[in-house]
Amino acid sequence: MDESAPPGPAPRAALHHLAVETADLDNCVAWYTDFFGGTAAWSLDTFSELTRQRLPGITRLTEVVAAGTRFHLFTRSAAYAGPHPDTLQFQHVCMTAATAGELRSWRERWQRLFASGRYVFARPEPPTDVVVDADGVSSFYALDVNGLEYEFTHIPAEAEGR
Ligand SMILES: [Fe+2]
Repeated sequence: MDESAPPGPAPRAALHHLAVETADLDNCVAWYTDFFGGTAAWSLDTFSELTRQRLPGITRLTEVVAAGTRFHLFTRSAAYAGPHPDTLQFQHVCMTAATAGELRSWRERWQRLFASGRYVFARPEPPTDVVVDADGVSSFYALDVNGLEYEFTHIPAEAEGR
């Protein structure tokens, strides 16, 4: 194999799921199904050797199918102390809304669910305002019940491919 040659076209791949670690699986599944409007498809409580190596202490995983993707919500035993503070993590996940109006609907939905008091939020911070840049791209950020950051964006057709 000539390792100095360019790698050529990449094989096909697409996003399959986002894995979300939570301290409270019931709370997390409730919020993800209610907020993203999805359903809990299946749960697992036995795991392969590889999964147990990658996620020490994993006890239960539920897949929620919603918003054009799958969320793999999982929890670990209390004995797991968590990652080293310097461990690299993905910083946020961005979901697209089809219209600027739907973007605002997502923000209002977040606020409505928060105000319901039905969920425990690790970081009870409100979503940011919707900001609109010079190209008409609008976005806001909001945290899930675990404190993980989501961005919602609407990219108008004329701003696509910037
Ligand atoms: Fe982003």
